[in-house]
Amino acid sequence: MKSPCITFLFFLLANLCSAQNNNTDFLECLTSQFQASDSTQNVIYTPQNSSYSSIFQALARNLRLISTSKERPLAIITPNNESEIQATIHCAKKYDILIRVRSGGHDYEGLSYISQTPFVIVDMGNLRSISIDTDDNTAWIQTGAILGELYYTIAKTSTTLAFTAGVCPTVGVGGHFSGGGYSMISRKHGLAVDNIIDAIVINANGEILDRNSMGDDLFWAIRGGGGTSFGIVVAFKVKLVTVPETVIVFNVARTLEQNATQLVHKWQYISDKIDENLSIRVFLKSVISRSSNRTIQASFTALFIGGGVGDLLQLMEENFPELGLVERDCIEMSWIESTLFFAGFPNGSPINILLKRPGDSYNNFKGKSDYVREPIPEHGLEGIWKYLNEEDENRPELQFSPYGGKLSTISESETPFPHRSGNIFMIHYDVVWSTDAQRHLNWIRSLYSYMTPFVSKSPRTAYLNYRDLDIGSNNNEGNTNYIQASVWGFKCFKNNFNRLVRVKTKVDPSNFFRNEQSIPVDVSYYIRKNSGILNKESFIV
Ligand code: FDA
Repeated sequence: MKSPCITFLFFLLANLCSAQNNNTDFLECLTSQFQASDSTQNVIYTPQNSSYSSIFQALARNLRLISTSKERPLAIITPNNESEIQATIHCAKKYDILIRVRSGGHDYEGLSYISQTPFVIVDMGNLRSISIDTDDNTAWIQTGAILGELYYTIAKTSTTLAFTAGVCPTVGVGGHFSGGGYSMISRKHGLAVDNIIDAIVINANGEILDRNSMGDDLFWAIRGGGGTSFGIVVAFKVKLVTVPETVIVFNVARTLEQNATQLVHKWQYISDKIDENLSIRVFLKSVISRSSNRTIQASFTALFIGGGVGDLLQLMEENFPELGLVERDCIEMSWIESTLFFAGFPNGSPINILLKRPGDSYNNFKGKSDYVREPIPEHGLEGIWKYLNEEDENRPELQFSPYGGKLSTISESETPFPHRSGNIFMIHYDVVWSTDAQRHLNWIRSLYSYMTPFVSKSPRTAYLNYRDLDIGSNNNEGNTNYIQASVWGFKCFKNNFNRLVRVKTKVDPSNFFRNEQSIPVDVSYYIRKNSGILNKESFIV
């Protein structure tokens, strides 16, 4: 008789072999599918390819996640067309391999390039065409494009058209647009998702759908609910917005010795109420002052699209005279130049710098988010300063991004992105490091805990695009249930979470597209449906 240990060993080996067979079959499936369409060249990268490692390294931006991940992708697919995506979905479904879709790769938790179970990366980088129609001021943008490419292409077409999306030019359209998309002109023009008017999505059955064929529910879900729960978004069509030929920017920095605490405190009372043409963001850091002491620096970084310098100065004098903005602080430029300014490029940089795709900036990084509905008292701010001073200077940063304006006029249920009226500003926390990960992770989690009394409650809301698995996650394979996923789901989507679950249950009932923060299927719906207890359309949620 075999001992239990040996039986267990056989069991393990059998499982291992069957998993390996499955992976091999999957790769064979891919190869034969792609050979049939004559497109294996430069589309499939497996560990057998000499360039596999360098391609994977280039895709994986957050070093924190690479060091803890046990799996590497079975293959990296870089499709050139929709049929190559369909082929990948076909094989992945057949052999139960997870798909990670990557556009710009900025996911804070690496959900576009990391998985704890066997997976394939679909990297959308080759699908990045942008076509602009100046007759109706719209643009079709493939999701492998980065924001910089979009801004550049718009600027080459018109000096008064723009789009409302994030400040970092290397952020990808696929993840950014499907999760929200906050910009320096969001107070005037809303988020990226508020301006999406059509999309091309490939669903779990490999069907290519546009707005008409996908129906209202799916079209609603991919505008803020995270595209990756529902399919692979190939392209978005957006309404472009208009901006003046000349806009004004400023960046005024004040330290504690220059009343930074009182200024940040006052900013909270005006930032969401001031003219929607003006957006003043605050960046907070611990720095070494000129007298070599540690201090807090609050940088008030703003964009004005509502007139000339005189108008801006008057607006500031009426609403925020304490900042002491003067004419020489105000810089006139075009909207496209302002995108370079906010991205931190040196003055006079050529605009084609926006075309530089992500690839050479990697660090260990953790980010989190919060929404503030009541101004934080001065003593609360002083507590934040203590935290910032505990870390190495320049390592952590807090961003306070103003809401109000158009963001408040759109109802919470218009799109899955629910953070609308009543929010004064959004907080983005981040810390980067080179060694001693646990110390920095403990630090940011402790700061987040300190912030509890000052931020939104029941639920404590969070921005999906500032991905944070600390607020709740599905299990490693992404399989989950409504109860487990609602821990994080209500924080990101409030009551829209229930509609997202209904859409998911309809469009991807086998939960093929899944990750640690994907929308769950309402399994009980099927149990009740099959048992005949409830009619076809009843969902638990
Ligand atoms: P990535 O490719 O990692 O995708 C993110 C998620 O979307 C993943 O789950 C992925 O699977 C999914 N996905 C990607 N492409 C898809 C597709 N075609 N179909 C379906 N699912 C897809 N946000 C903001 O609102 N305003 C801002 O100003 C900034 N600024 C900023 C700066 C920097 C330096 C970073 C790192 C991040 C930001 N962000 C931001 C946050 C940003 O919006 C968020 O990280 C986006 O999800 C990034 O999208 P990517 O396509 O780059 O990421």
